Amino acid sequence: MEIDFDTLAPGDRYKVLASLVTPRPIAWVTTIDPGGIVNAAPFSFFNCFGSNPPILAFAPGNKEPGLPKDTARNIRQSREFVVNIADEALAEQMVATSATLPHGESELDATGLTSAASSVVKVPRIAEAPVAFECREWATLEIGSNRLVIGVVHHAHVRDGLFDPETMRLDHTKFIPVGRMAAPDWYCRTSEQYEIPKPA
Ligand SMILES: Cc1cc2nc3c(=O)[nH]c(=O)nc-3n(C[C@H](O)[C@H](O)[C@H](O)COP(=O)(O)O)c2cc1C
Repeated sequence: MEIDFDTLAPGDRYKVLASLVTPRPIAWVTTIDPGGIVNAAPFSFFNCFGSNPPILAFAPGNKEPGLPKDTARNIRQSREFVVNIADEALAEQMVATSATLPHGESELDATGLTSAASSVVKVPRIAEAPVAFECREWATLEIGSNRLVIGVVHHAHVRDGLFDPETMRLDHTKFIPVGRMAAPDWYCRTSEQYEIPKPA
């Protein structure tokens, strides 16, 4: 079949794109609101885009025209955020933090998670997450009803035992992040990995 994105309804464009551009990593983003409440939410329109400087980007769609999601609004105000990465053991709690809570309530408290102080930004990380990147906003682009938040990574927390400190090589049997698959609710395991050496 052919799919004409120019005439497709926006909701259907989402279903097609989000189901076919898979598996996607998931940024589990913590921010703080002006009252100091920690906000957490997952975003699978996410990746890293370069290492010099080290940049990450994720894309919160607006709640309604011109009205950003809390994560994007908090980042506009504080210019800081943390991208936590969930592994399989945390996947259900990660998805639960996508619920919309009444103003002033933290998704971390509601899902039994705890925050831990970051090293260089004021926004805390999720203590249970195996990986957390402390970021400062570099820019937020507004493209239609999408916001593309681009951040520079300043500091990372990695659970002990994942990296060999000599070689900086990951032990891929110990880091099992969860991936996003077809819309709306499919995920994948990353526990079965294999190697393909690059051509010389
Ligand atoms: C696994 C997963 C991935 C998601 N990815 C995105 C995304 O890339 N962009 C987006 O706008 N919403 C995404 N959502 C929905 C947001 O997490 C949800 O709207 C959340 O309530 C936003 O929280 P906030 O208003 O506190 O920022 C995703 C939800 C889940 C469960």
